[in-house]
Amino acid sequence: MARIGLLTGGGDCPGLNPVIRGIVRRGIDTYGHELYGFRRGWKGVLENDAIQLTRENTSGILHRGGTILGTSRTNVYKTENGEERVLASLREREIDVLIPIGGDDTLGVARKLNDAGFPTVGVPKTIDNDLNATDFTFGFQTAVQIATEAIDRLHSTAESHDRVIVCEVMGRDAGWLACYAGLAGGADVILVPERPFDIETVCKHLTHRHETTGKHFSIVVVAEGASPADGGEAATAADTVDSFGHARLGGIAVQLEQQIEEKTGYECRATVLGHIQRGGSPIAFDRILGTRFGVAAIDAASNGDFGKMVALHGTAIELVAFQDALNEPKLLDPELFETAQVFFG
Ligand code: F6P
Repeated sequence: MARIGLLTGGGDCPGLNPVIRGIVRRGIDTYGHELYGFRRGWKGVLENDAIQLTRENTSGILHRGGTILGTSRTNVYKTENGEERVLASLREREIDVLIPIGGDDTLGVARKLNDAGFPTVGVPKTIDNDLNATDFTFGFQTAVQIATEAIDRLHSTAESHDRVIVCEVMGRDAGWLACYAGLAGGADVILVPERPFDIETVCKHLTHRHETTGKHFSIVVVAEGASPADGGEAATAADTVDSFGHARLGGIAVQLEQQIEEKTGYECRATVLGHIQRGGSPIAFDRILGTRFGVAAIDAASNGDFGKMVALHGTAIELVAFQDALNEPKLLDPELFETAQVFFG
């Protein structure tokens, strides 16, 4: 029996609650552990704000979006005496192992704490699917489904009005979401951070489609982190950066709307899907992946497998060392993008 802490950090995503439920059910029923959930990510550990998690207060959450623990983008290592304060809270609550559930920022803090001697086991999460060493993160497939449904809806209105609609999806460093949703939704052009775009080529695809295929409407799917090849930066929605140094991205669709309309003469509209992609119930795939990750994480914590993250490899859940997952983002598979390109224009 041990005292295990957990937290959810960074941007929320569908599937966090299934992870929490998986950890708690397995932790109590199989190992007799006591589980403590810190509120609002690392902020809750810094402030020693936690609740005991039980079968009762984690039941009925499998299908619920968001996280019952709350989250924040708090960087322990940008906070005065951050590491000391975190260790003091964990000591005070007599926590033996911590299970942070998050993306590269949250797990980066977990890795440093583990290096500093406090046992941690990570669970990878992000709708961007840009974490290395796992085939998928939970939340991604739900976001793909939401974006695909939105693109389906944009098709009918684009067609009615003979318009080009530019649909902006999330994806800071990697175009997984844009490429998956664009492929599934039948986008006519997809723009991703990994491939800076040339606006003339984008317009050429659109005029080719409108002039030669009898279609008078098009859908362009663009990742928020996509940027022009002529050295321009990704569009930002604010001048500030978060505590991990990330800019708030957003607005590329509006820029493209103006440029495409100007260059092609086609009427154009921008739609930014934003946080709709992160909200609501997880689809079945993410409930199952989250549940399997949660069970595997508490097994690892109970077996002394620290400094590692649970990961999906094919159909198996395995453990990988933090350093194999966190050194750089997992960028879009070029072969997948080449398949998507078959349908451009
Ligand atoms: O990292 C996940 C993500 O959804 C990114 O795609 C996006 O840039 C960011 O979070 C948005 O974060 P926030 O919720 O802080 O606006």
